[in-house]
Amino acid sequence: MKIWIDQLQKEHTLPSKAYYKLLTCSDADSMEYLHRQAKEVSLAQFENKIFIRGLIEISNCCRNDCLYCGIRKSNIHIDRYRLTQKQILECCQQGYELGFRTFVMQGGEDRVQSINWIENVVKEIRHQFPDCAITLSLGEMSYSDYKRLFDAGANRYLLRHETFNPTHYNQLHPKEMSAQHRQQCLLWLKEIGFQTGTGIMVGSPYQTIDHIIEDIRFIERLQPEMIGIGPFIPHHDTPFASQEAGSVELTLRLISIFRLMFPKVLIPSTTALASLGNEGRLKGILAGANVVMPNLSPSNTRKKYSLYNNKASLGAEAAEGLKLLNMQLQTIGYEISMERGDYKG
Ligand code: 5AD
Repeated sequence: MKIWIDQLQKEHTLPSKAYYKLLTCSDADSMEYLHRQAKEVSLAQFENKIFIRGLIEISNCCRNDCLYCGIRKSNIHIDRYRLTQKQILECCQQGYELGFRTFVMQGGEDRVQSINWIENVVKEIRHQFPDCAITLSLGEMSYSDYKRLFDAGANRYLLRHETFNPTHYNQLHPKEMSAQHRQQCLLWLKEIGFQTGTGIMVGSPYQTIDHIIEDIRFIERLQPEMIGIGPFIPHHDTPFASQEAGSVELTLRLISIFRLMFPKVLIPSTTALASLGNEGRLKGILAGANVVMPNLSPSNTRKKYSLYNNKASLGAEAAEGLKLLNMQLQTIGYEISMERGDYKG
């Protein structure tokens, strides 16, 4: 196994059968070696610095009905909200004072917050915070809408492909959605010039190791600047309520594989990983992640943005908890960086 890990570190790719072996290996020493090599690569690229992004959840209204997601359209048990432009700018101001230099606006595919409205919010943030990066995570749009948002001043876009395999994609999404269209959106985002993030949920229902290898190959072709990997966690008001959560170990393994494939890529230690407990946040960093995204949303809306059960939004997960986060990072020899943290290819 070590030979494959060394080869991945040197050549940044492996034959599929080697990925299969890595993903299914049960030898603890080999896995420790994988994480250690990934951590070394991350330290060589970013030193012991962790970039922070302020996450603003702008709306939990969504026109889609993804089977895994707590804010899906047909969930009638959640309290829907939309932030106003004023509230979003207040979040940015508060974040700026705390030291954030990247704001991530994430939300459901809410068409009430129209493209005009989003474009204006982006322009206003760009105007008031000229030194900050603006990241959007607002789902699928047309090429021309993405272009408008880029021209308005947005720099980065997060859109997980969720799963490359079309059959698996259809098992997770309503019939109006397709793997092909999701992937098309990602190609558009790259073409327009966004620093583009994609990724998957680990352990989503019906996922197989072969699916994950297809995801690795897709990511290899796309060459994203950011890769978000988190475990699937069931939400009680979805059709997947009684499914098992994804594995933390497999999530960490993928983080390490992607770090060795793409030394410079930005990889968050995700909220989903932290939400499963047992210091998931720190384990992600020790496996090669170099970004955390504390929650900057107004505190009264945080619990309403419930993508899955027990989603963490307090303590080191919250923007106000930066000191706590930094203390936790220090226990493993890392610290927060106040830089903007753009992808440096
Ligand atoms: N478990 C884990 N991650 C989820 N997401 C949505 N629902 C869940 C869930 N139940 C992730 C998706 C989406 C991102 C914003 O949140 O991958 O792209």
